[in-house]
Amino acid sequence: KPRLYSGMQPSSGSLHIGNLIGAIFQWRRMQEEYDATFSVVDLHAITVPQDPKVLREQVRTVAAQYIAAGIDPSRSVLYVQSAVPAHAQLAWVLSTITGFGEASRMTQFKDKSARQGADAASVGLFTYPILMAADILLFDTDAVPVGDDQKQHVELTRDLATRFNARFGDTFVVPKPVIQAESARIYDLQEPTAKMSKSAATDKGLLSLLDEPTKVAKKIRSAVTDMEGVVRADREQKPGVTNLLTILSSITGTPVPELETRFEGQQYGAFKAEVADAVVAEVAPIRERALELLADPAELDRILASNAARASEVAEATLDRAYRAIGLR
Ligand code: TYM
Repeated sequence: KPRLYSGMQPSSGSLHIGNLIGAIFQWRRMQEEYDATFSVVDLHAITVPQDPKVLREQVRTVAAQYIAAGIDPSRSVLYVQSAVPAHAQLAWVLSTITGFGEASRMTQFKDKSARQGADAASVGLFTYPILMAADILLFDTDAVPVGDDQKQHVELTRDLATRFNARFGDTFVVPKPVIQAESARIYDLQEPTAKMSKSAATDKGLLSLLDEPTKVAKKIRSAVTDMEGVVRADREQKPGVTNLLTILSSITGTPVPELETRFEGQQYGAFKAEVADAVVAEVAPIRERALELLADPAELDRILASNAARASEVAEATLDRAYRAIGLR
């Protein structure tokens, strides 16, 4: 079986519908045909300041949502990154073959450090993509399903793997990004030209998987649209309506053109009500199942620990191969 790897930050505890549509929908589908490994990337999370107590809780909360959304921890490997030391170890090795200029071109660092101020941004935030490359390469990954904001990091991973192999002999599998074009990016409901993100200024435009159903419906009813009053996709002129169409289409599996026809002559109110129903039907059971899992943290920790042991075995073997290739050990 080909191997798949992907990860998600525990940043806010609750995942949002962009994570669900952009990433987890693909993971859920692909775990059938792939040997899949998924991580909660807490080492990535600490590249920006975190409250220790909150972080520990968020890691569990995110893991519970993965499982609730359909990642099966007895079929796929689901673990917490910091439980496997090889991530940090391989990241160090890869940092020695990454150019400073090359790392400086990563747009996510540029965005995030601009928001924090260049002096406040940590060196860890700068080397973040190298740690991500280590995650992927440790598992001999063939496919990396991500939203399109992570594509540049996967490209860097490919470059580093190719470079390492050329210098030190065949060691790493060169992975490919897998990006679902239509759903690769879900936007903020209040500011539909900005990607939906945990770091947005207000949470009115953010649909969280742990939001109560009434809150989800309310946020969708208040989503920004436009004055045209026609339900049709147009990313430039109608970003709000287009975003809602993407969400509805991804959840129901109905192609956007078919939705446009169905809502011909209808008001935005009716359209939004249908989007709200579809989102609630998808998200409410995930929320309930996640809360159930969180009610028994000991059981959740047991699942994560046994999965981490499985992950460690693979990761240690790859790290050893890499160390030996460069003359260590
Ligand atoms: P993160 O935690 O920001 O996001 C997790 C996944 O969700 C996707 N995503 C979105 N998709 C569509 N619309 C959105 N608005 C949206 N927001 C987020 C992301 O593309 C991602 O697939 N660096 C990664 C985590 C990571 C990783 C890895 C991923 C660490 N190591 C190894 C893959 C392989 C990140 O910060 O994702």
